[in-house]
Amino acid sequence: EMPLLEQCYNLMDFEAVARRVMKKGAWGYYSSAADDEITMRENHSAFQRIWFRPKILVDVEKVDFSTTMLGTKVDAPFYVTATALGKLGHVEGEVVLTRAAGKHNVVQMIPTLASCAFDDIVDAAGPGQVQWLQLYVNKDRGITRRIVEHAERRGCKGLFITVDAPQLGRREKDMRSKFTDPGSHVQSTGEGGEAAVDNSQGAARAISSFIDPALSWKDIPWFQSITKMPIVLKGVQRVEDVLKAVEAGVQGVVLSNHGGRQLEFSRSGIEILAETMPVLRQMGLEDKIEVYVDGGVRRATDIVKALCLGAKGVGIGRPFLYAMSTYGLRGVDRAMQLLKDEMEMNMRLIGATTVDELNPSLVDARGLFNH
Ligand code: FNR
Repeated sequence: EMPLLEQCYNLMDFEAVARRVMKKGAWGYYSSAADDEITMRENHSAFQRIWFRPKILVDVEKVDFSTTMLGTKVDAPFYVTATALGKLGHVEGEVVLTRAAGKHNVVQMIPTLASCAFDDIVDAAGPGQVQWLQLYVNKDRGITRRIVEHAERRGCKGLFITVDAPQLGRREKDMRSKFTDPGSHVQSTGEGGEAAVDNSQGAARAISSFIDPALSWKDIPWFQSITKMPIVLKGVQRVEDVLKAVEAGVQGVVLSNHGGRQLEFSRSGIEILAETMPVLRQMGLEDKIEVYVDGGVRRATDIVKALCLGAKGVGIGRPFLYAMSTYGLRGVDRAMQLLKDEMEMNMRLIGATTVDELNPSLVDARGLFNH
């Protein structure tokens, strides 16, 4: 029996319901991560090694946690990150996330491997609602070029190139559950991905054979030549590569290990952030690039910690998928509202009235590295 939506008081509650009620194949695909899922667990637990150093006696009657991401004004410093195959969890798929993001004025990143057709996801957005495109780069650059140009024409405001997946990680829960695709539009431009897929290796392997493992830094100028959208590299894992990204002239990076689904024993995004920002500041480069983080963000305290350490915003994946899969639009709406309520409270308790006031002095992150 399903608990009432009102009985979900935080993002973990949606996961607990999803584990019980979702179809095995869908649960397997959404919840799985690489190998022994150690990086996935680390994503969450790394936040628990950071403590707050709140300020007292600050007038926090009015609190504003709106911010900007790639020039877009948003109501909260989180976005819906790209997650493939939305129809595994809900018959309507990604458009459910679109509607919730629109209602809360946060950005949705549209996955290359959405279940819904790309145009349907764009059409589901309200006037002025901002979406980004997540790109898996095809071996056939002609296909990739058409996808990028089409997204720009349809108004996408950011191009997030996934750089941590030259080959899909081994996700055994997913492999065991032998995925069957509920009629999705994978590679929804209708090119490249819809050829017969081999389902024996789980959903992830089945849909990813078109991704180009030869993608390299040399390709970045080509992307810059085919689009005016800001370019962000999604899946950066070391400060050296953040510096290379600055040099390459891209507008942002997402410090991420793909929700623990790619290289097992990758570090958490929040730890990479703590490594990265002092170097950027020291080199005077912190205004040259927007730094985002995803992985394991479940509470507003996680978001506040990331912002204190210098992130522009955070991406959230599984919690919104679980909310969508269990309660549909109402579920995602509530999940976002819960996060916003937690945001307001935690900003007050830490003594900050705007996101600009969040800075490293408000956290003790020494435990991130000594554990
Ligand atoms: C993902 N992620 C992902 N990333 C990407 O660049 N392209 C993709 O198609 C997908 N697909 C995908 C499916 C599912 C089911 C999950 C859980 C994740 C990774 C995603 O964008 C993000 O990095 C993580 O989900 C963040 O971690 P959390 O919030 O899920 O812990």
